[in-house]
Amino acid sequence: MAIILLLLLSCLTPFQEAAADAFCDNVKVLAATLPNKTSSSPVHFATATVGQAPDIVYALALCRGDILNDTACSQSIANRFDLVRNATPPDLGCYTVVSYYGDFILLYSFNDILAPSIYTNSTGDENGGDPPFERWNVKNVTGDVSLVAGLIRELLVETVEKAASATPRRFATGVMDSGTTFPMVYSLAQCTPDLSTGDCLACLNHLLGLINSTMSLRMGGQMGVIRCYFRYEASPFYQGQPMISLGPPAPTPTEHKGKLTDGLEIAVKRLASHSGQGFTEFKNEVQLIAKLQHSNLVRLLGCCYQDEEKILVYEYLPNKSLDFFIFDEKRRELLEWSKLVAIIEGIAHGLLYLHKHSRLRVIHRDLKPSNILLDSEMNPKISDFGLAKIFSSNTEGNTTTRVVGTYGYMAPEYASQGVFSIKSDVFSFGVIIFEILSGKRNSGNQQYGDFINLLGYAWQLWDEGRWIDLVSSSSFSKSHSTKMMRCINIALLCVQENAADRPTMADVIAMLTNL
Ligand SMILES: *[C@@H]1O[C@H](CO)[C@@H](O)[C@H](O)[C@H]1NC(C)=O
Ligand SMILES: *[C@@H]1O[C@H](CO)[C@@H](O)[C@H](O)[C@H]1NC(C)=O
Ligand SMILES: *[C@@H]1O[C@H](CO)[C@@H](O)[C@H](O)[C@H]1NC(C)=O
Ligand SMILES: *[C@@H]1O[C@H](CO)[C@@H](O)[C@H](O)[C@H]1NC(C)=O
Ligand SMILES: *[C@@H]1O[C@H](CO)[C@@H](O)[C@H](O)[C@H]1NC(C)=O
Ligand SMILES: *[C@@H]1O[C@H](CO)[C@@H](O)[C@H](O)[C@H]1NC(C)=O
Ligand SMILES: *[C@@H]1O[C@H](CO)[C@@H](O)[C@H](O)[C@H]1NC(C)=O
Repeated sequence: MAIILLLLLSCLTPFQEAAADAFCDNVKVLAATLPNKTSSSPVHFATATVGQAPDIVYALALCRGDILNDTACSQSIANRFDLVRNATPPDLGCYTVVSYYGDFILLYSFNDILAPSIYTNSTGDENGGDPPFERWNVKNVTGDVSLVAGLIRELLVETVEKAASATPRRFATGVMDSGTTFPMVYSLAQCTPDLSTGDCLACLNHLLGLINSTMSLRMGGQMGVIRCYFRYEASPFYQGQPMISLGPPAPTPTEHKGKLTDGLEIAVKRLASHSGQGFTEFKNEVQLIAKLQHSNLVRLLGCCYQDEEKILVYEYLPNKSLDFFIFDEKRRELLEWSKLVAIIEGIAHGLLYLHKHSRLRVIHRDLKPSNILLDSEMNPKISDFGLAKIFSSNTEGNTTTRVVGTYGYMAPEYASQGVFSIKSDVFSFGVIIFEILSGKRNSGNQQYGDFINLLGYAWQLWDEGRWIDLVSSSSFSKSHSTKMMRCINIALLCVQENAADRPTMADVIAMLTNL
C-alpha cells in the first residue's frame, strides 16, 4: 500500500536552531514511546507532549481504522521515525512536522498541533488554517462526468456521516457500484477518535467543501488535515469489508397522469429500459404484484412491454405523497393528530399485508414518505412495493450487493451489509413515524443537537424525558400527549440497532391499537 509522505514544514528560524539539541532529544524520547503508546491504545490513537517550552514537542499518531494488528501499527510508526531520523540533513527530523496519510498518521511539531483551535482546518502549519494535504489521481472520470462526480460525492458524504457517528474509532469505509465508467469506487473517512460526532463531521465536511469542479472529476483522491482524512479510489485500498455499500442510483421511474376511455384516472409509470429483464420475467413479476390488493397499497392495474420499454399502470391518487405534507409547515396544519395517527396505522396495515398476509412475502426495501401516496380522503397507500424486485435481478437470497433503498431510511444491517428482512422495513417505518411527528427529515443536512440524524437525537431526548421536543409544535396538543409519547416509544422500538430486537408489524399494530 502506498504511503504518502508529506513534508509540511521545513523552515527553521534561528531561535529554533539554537534549541535544536534539546528539541531533538525530545523527538528521540517520542520515537521511543509513541509507537507503543499508539498501538496499545484500544483505538490506536495517541497524543504526547515531551519536554518544556521552548523545546517542547507536540505529537499525534493514529493507525488507520482498518489496521487492526497492534504489532503492525507500532512497527509502521517506529519505522517512520527511523526513516525521518535517517533523512538528510541528519537533523531534519528534529524540526519537521511530518504527516503520513497511508496506513497511519504521524505528526510532531514545536507548534501546538494539539490545540483545539486548529483541529479541523489545518495540517499543522504555524499559522493554523493552512491548506489541507491533498493528492489527486491524474486520470479523470469519463462518460457522463457530472453523474459520476455526483455519485462519488454521494459516496463520500455517506462515508463521512458513517465515520462521524462510528464509535469508538470515528472511521468508516465504503464501496459503491456506480454502474458507470468508474464502476467501483472505494472510500474511507476517518477522524481522530477523540473528536465528537459533531467535530468529526465538521472537520470532514470542511474538507468535502473544498472539493472543486476540477478535483471532483478525478478517478481517485484524498485530503487530510490534522484531525481528519478522506480518500477514494477505483480499486480497494483498505483492509476488511466495506462498512457501507451503495448500489447504482435507483432508476427514477417517470410518472404521468392519464385517463382511460371510461374516465378512470390512472398513473402511468415508465421504467428505465435497461434493467436487463426479459418480457416473461417482467410479466411474471407484474402478475404477482398485481395480485397484492389491500386498501393501503396502491393498486397496480396493468403493464405494457414493447421493445425493452416497460410501463406500469397504477390507480391515480390525487393528494400527492406524504412528504409533500409533513415536511411543509403550512401543509402540516391540514393534518390533525387523529389524521396523523390514521396515516401511521394505515402504513402499518399496508406493510403487515406485504410482510405477512399476502401470498408472497414482499419486503419493500424503500419505504419512505415519498413512497406513501394519499387518496382523496388522505388515506395512505404504499407505492413502489415490488419495484425494487423488478429492478434487481441480481438479488440473491436475502442479501444483495446492490442496495436499492434510500439512505436515511435504511436499517443499519441493510446499508452496511446488504442484509434485508421484514425487520429492515420495520426500521424504515420507525423513521417515518419520527418524521411524521417531528416534521423533520431523518438525514437532511441538518444537525440535531449533537447528532447528525434525527434518530440519535430522538434517543437522547427520550432518555432525558424531553420527548416533547421531538413533536412538531404544529402537531402538539396536550390532550394527546400520552398517545404521542407511546407513538414515539413504538418508533424507538422499530429503529433499534439490532434487527432481532425490533417488533414485527403485527406487534406494531397491536401496540398502535392500544395507543
Ligand atoms: C513495543 O511493544 C513491543 C511488543 O508489543 C515490544 O516488543 C517492544 O519492545 C516495545 N517497544 C518499546 C520501545 O517499548
Ligand atoms: C501483525 O503484523 C506483524 C508485523 O507486520 C506480522 O508479523 C504478524 O504476522 C501480524 N499478525 C497477524 C495476526 O496478522
Ligand atoms: C481555522 O479555524 C480557526 C478556528 O476555528 C479559525 O480561527 C481560522 O480562521 C480558520 N482558518 C481558516 C483558513 O479557515
Ligand atoms: C483532467 O481534467 C482537468 C480539468 O478538466 C484537466 O486540466 C486535466 O488535464 C485532465 N487530466 C487528464 C489526464 O486528462
Ligand atoms: C481546484 O483546486 C486546485 C487546488 O487547490 C486548484 O489548483 C485548481 O485551480 C482549482 N480549480 C478550480 C476550477 O477552481
Ligand atoms: C385531497 O384531494 C381531494 C380530492 O382531490 C381534495 O378535495 C382535498 O382538498 C385534498 N386534501 C388535501 C389536504 O389537500
Ligand atoms: C435468509 O433468511 C432466513 C430467515 O429469515 C435465514 O434463516 C437465512 O439464513 C437467510 N439467508 C441469508 C443468506 O442471509
